[in-house]
Amino acid sequence: MTTFIIAALTADGSIAKDSHQPSTRWTSAEDGQFFARQTKQSGVMVMGRTTFTTIGRTLPGRTTIVYTSRPAQFSHRFSQAQAFGPAQPNLVPGGLLTTKLGPRRLITALAAKGLDSLAICGGTSIYTQFLEAGVVDKLYLTIEPVVFGDGLRLFGQLGRQYSLRLDELRRLSAQTVVLEYSVEK
Ligand SMILES: NC(=O)c1ccc[n+]([C@@H]2O[C@H](COP(=O)([O-])OP(=O)(O)OC[C@H]3O[C@@H](n4cnc5c(N)ncnc54)[C@H](OP(=O)(O)O)[C@@H]3O)[C@@H](O)[C@H]2O)c1
Repeated sequence: MTTFIIAALTADGSIAKDSHQPSTRWTSAEDGQFFARQTKQSGVMVMGRTTFTTIGRTLPGRTTIVYTSRPAQFSHRFSQAQAFGPAQPNLVPGGLLTTKLGPRRLITALAAKGLDSLAICGGTSIYTQFLEAGVVDKLYLTIEPVVFGDGLRLFGQLGRQYSLRLDELRRLSAQTVVLEYSVEK
């Protein structure tokens, strides 16, 4: 299983001005296309409840797994949501699942269903938990020509320093680049 973080950053390193800001307010169309391509290839996206709320819907062609400690409350608002579990039928494109499994247990359960790639789609709390669990193989970081000053960072507090290897630098347009990193293990 390959697990990758995918995120858009401002030139000064923020992923959002605050927890309620949808990323599409400031990211480019080219980044939207890149995100769609990478996450469709993977087939399954994991994100926190706050991030899902800023999007407000599932995205076609991918299963969305939302982290929440209050699945009943979430399902009340998004009625199609089902709790992810071992008895869950196969992952359906367009499906919406909730979980509170730790990153390692979730990845083991998804691998048992035959998944070979997982997209970690934020926000800060989810990126941090997956990196700290030691399960992130790659990062795709889009850098947009915007600065926020204060803002939400990609990661919160980390228990140690992580070393990355720059595998590729891609130009999405004249203004936007993607840095593709591997996590040194
Ligand atoms: N620029 C980008 O690429 C990008 C990407 C993604 C997100 N973002 C931005 O990031 C912001 C949101 O980030 P955030 O860190 O505030 O929130 P978040 O990570 O999206 O969601 C946090 C929520 O996820 C749930 N959660 C987290 N860990 C959990 C666990 N171990 N077990 C159960 N539930 C868990 C909790 O929901 P409950 O309260 O329901 O328990 C928690 O309140 C938004 O502004 C969004 O636009 C930016």
